[in-house]
Amino acid sequence: MGTDELRAGLENVVVAETRLSSVDGEAGELLVAGYPIEELAPNASFEETLYLLRNGRLPTADELDDFREKLASRRSIPDATIDLLRAAAEDDGQSAMDALRMGAATLSLGAADGRGGEGEREREDESGPVGGDPDRDSLSLVAAFPTVVAAYWRLRSGEEPVDPRPDLRHAANYLRMLTGELPTEAETWGLETYLNAVVDHGLNASTFTARTIASTESDLVSAITGAVGALKGPLHGGAPGPVLAMLLDVDESGDAEGYLREKLDAGERIMGFGHRVYRVRDPRAAVLSDAAERFYAAESGGDEAFFESARTFEGTAVDLLAEYKPGRNLETNVEFYTAVLLHGVGVPQELFSATFGVARVGGWTAHCLEQLDDNRLIRPRSRYVGARGREWTPIEDR
Ligand code: COA
Repeated sequence: MGTDELRAGLENVVVAETRLSSVDGEAGELLVAGYPIEELAPNASFEETLYLLRNGRLPTADELDDFREKLASRRSIPDATIDLLRAAAEDDGQSAMDALRMGAATLSLGAADGRGGEGEREREDESGPVGGDPDRDSLSLVAAFPTVVAAYWRLRSGEEPVDPRPDLRHAANYLRMLTGELPTEAETWGLETYLNAVVDHGLNASTFTARTIASTESDLVSAITGAVGALKGPLHGGAPGPVLAMLLDVDESGDAEGYLREKLDAGERIMGFGHRVYRVRDPRAAVLSDAAERFYAAESGGDEAFFESARTFEGTAVDLLAEYKPGRNLETNVEFYTAVLLHGVGVPQELFSATFGVARVGGWTAHCLEQLDDNRLIRPRSRYVGARGREWTPIEDR
């Protein structure tokens, strides 16, 4: 590539080597640390996936127990974080992603006086959950994210936060902190499958943001807070909420085709379809569709009719997109069945993007550690297209 060649959006520019995930947009293949996503997502606990990303291999049973305990002991968040989340919850202008961004940024505050979980063990060190060691801080951030999101949600709903429970798995603990109730096995499995499916996805915008900040040898809280900011954008993590709204509309009217034609005739985009990298169906859509089908069939309270209506909607949408946008290969993306599955397991629509953050923080932190392992400051160039050789005019002459 010539030194002045411009690649808008860095499209197709390789700027890092990674062992964490491989995305093949033509073949529709996603590998996480070498495992096809179809194998990993429905079978692993989220802790196993996190361990895999951090260590490059699956844990033994003893290693997994140890890792689970370490994570569980870092779930509590500083009182000052709760105060800030309370302020965010009372301000209608702040979304869950704003709350997560602000909450993440406060995790470097000392937690000696923080909220202890029921029966929480003594911390392994006295410097609080996040304090400068990237390896330890990366675990603390992953552990604390569900607590931040759930505390915001409880406060927003006019209830007090539920303390984390160290004996529960990561996903089950998140659901319990949201609702105050123990989730069913099917709900925990459904959420874990989702968290695994979206934990990492190549050098997407938020992961690149995290790596860029880490490459300055800044701290992990800064890197992850920046990544949350990138994920908040509607072009990145914002689609599953609108997908659910659309599905609920159509579920009521029963007329998917009429609804879709109206949108397409008006030149609108159909949320949950199309992708910058995938030219075929996003492999995560298949994983999440299977998981949603299994979940809605297993759960007695699950609404199987809702799943069936979503599946019919998908088929109609793909056919109509081919009719309206021939040759564009607009297929289902990850967000479509994310909405169906998260709705089923009881995650509120307002928290879909923040729950994406609860998963992706596993990938972000692993990328930061990988970057630091063999660091080179990320510092691309710009091509200057502004004026040259201007003469200074004193202010009284302008
Ligand atoms: N519904 C309707 N038309 C769509 C579409 C969708 N979901 N996605 C793309 N198109 C159309 C575009 O309007 C464009 O048509 P045109 O050439 O007639 O103008 C054509 O397909 C190519 O679109 P383009 O914007 O170049 O594709 P992209 O690769 O840059 O966009 C997305 C990728 C994801 C931004 C886009 O598909 C989209 O907006 N999807 C909906 C939002 C969504 O689900 N986001 C989550 C992504 S994981």
